[in-house]
Amino acid sequence: MTLLSVQDLSIRFRTPDGYVHAVNNVSFDIEEGEKLAVVGESGSGKSQIALAILGLLANNAEASGRILYKGQNLLDLPRREMNKIRAKEISIIFQDPMSSLNPYMTVERQLNEILELHEGLRGRAARSRVLEVMEAVQIPDAKNRLKSYPHEFSGGMRQRIVIAMALLCRPKLILADEPTTALDVTVQAQIMHLLEDIQKEYGSSIMLITHDLGVVAGFCNETLVLYGGRVMERAGTAAIFAAPAHPYTRGLMRAVPNIHDPSATLQSIPGQPPNQTRPLVHCPFAGRCGDSLEACFDILPELSPAPHQRACIRAVEELT
Ligand SMILES: Nc1ncnc2c1ncn2[C@@H]1O[C@H](COP(=O)(O)OP(=O)(O)O)[C@@H](O)[C@H]1O
Ligand SMILES: [Mg+2]
Repeated sequence: MTLLSVQDLSIRFRTPDGYVHAVNNVSFDIEEGEKLAVVGESGSGKSQIALAILGLLANNAEASGRILYKGQNLLDLPRREMNKIRAKEISIIFQDPMSSLNPYMTVERQLNEILELHEGLRGRAARSRVLEVMEAVQIPDAKNRLKSYPHEFSGGMRQRIVIAMALLCRPKLILADEPTTALDVTVQAQIMHLLEDIQKEYGSSIMLITHDLGVVAGFCNETLVLYGGRVMERAGTAAIFAAPAHPYTRGLMRAVPNIHDPSATLQSIPGQPPNQTRPLVHCPFAGRCGDSLEACFDILPELSPAPHQRACIRAVEELT
């Protein structure tokens, strides 16, 4: 069953220098229980897609297309209706835990506020739910730590609290935007294990945003690759790792240091990031692509059909 359907989503920002075209006609579905990775370099539009889903885009943003959730287009939803969906149906985990936590409130109060607002739970019922999620995210001695303030926890523990917050109302979809990027490597692994356990237990779908392909391989069953605000490739994670079909994805994979070969060097993709000040008229990767043809500078390729989707005229050539 499809849980969320993003259809032809475009997001542009009004700036004093004209428009910035951040997301360009992006379409994808998230199925119930699916773990979808959205990968791409910094600036490729990953966070803006997540913010659009939750109605949290900046004031200078203009979004078009549809984001269908339970038969309604989230882009058209009045603020009051959107507030009911946020946290309860769809929640988000940001990269920096301090951006989600109020430094002046105890952890217990912050969690209680969410429960009261969305579920009308207070008192003992609220307390037992709070304890349940604090234990789910493995905060040691949770009962006695509830009265602590965010700064009294380590970075890793703070991110666990943010995850607890995201879980509190048992949402159907969790958007995790670089949830481990601010943490050191050992803590990163712990948090990813935790997310994995929680996903199994709660059955929520997860959209994991990351620039780190290493995180994706062990965690997500589906992978979507973004470049210049456009979907370059989407398929099962195993299929993409076994045979990346888009030259950009191949470039990304070469850029990942090989854990089996410590001498392998990290290779970055040569060239400049795409110009976002004009609407896309041809493949955004053409200028950096080692396999480009003349036509790549004229044509904006559509995504090929599932199961292994790619937006590359080379791919079309291969298919015909
Ligand atoms: N409020 C804004 N005004 C103008 N441009 C913005 C604004 N917010 C984001 N952008 C631009 O949108 C593009 C995509 O950003 P983002 O989705 O945050 O990238 P990332 O893939 O790193 O998460 C970037 O070029 C960014 O500069
Ligand atoms: Mg981002």
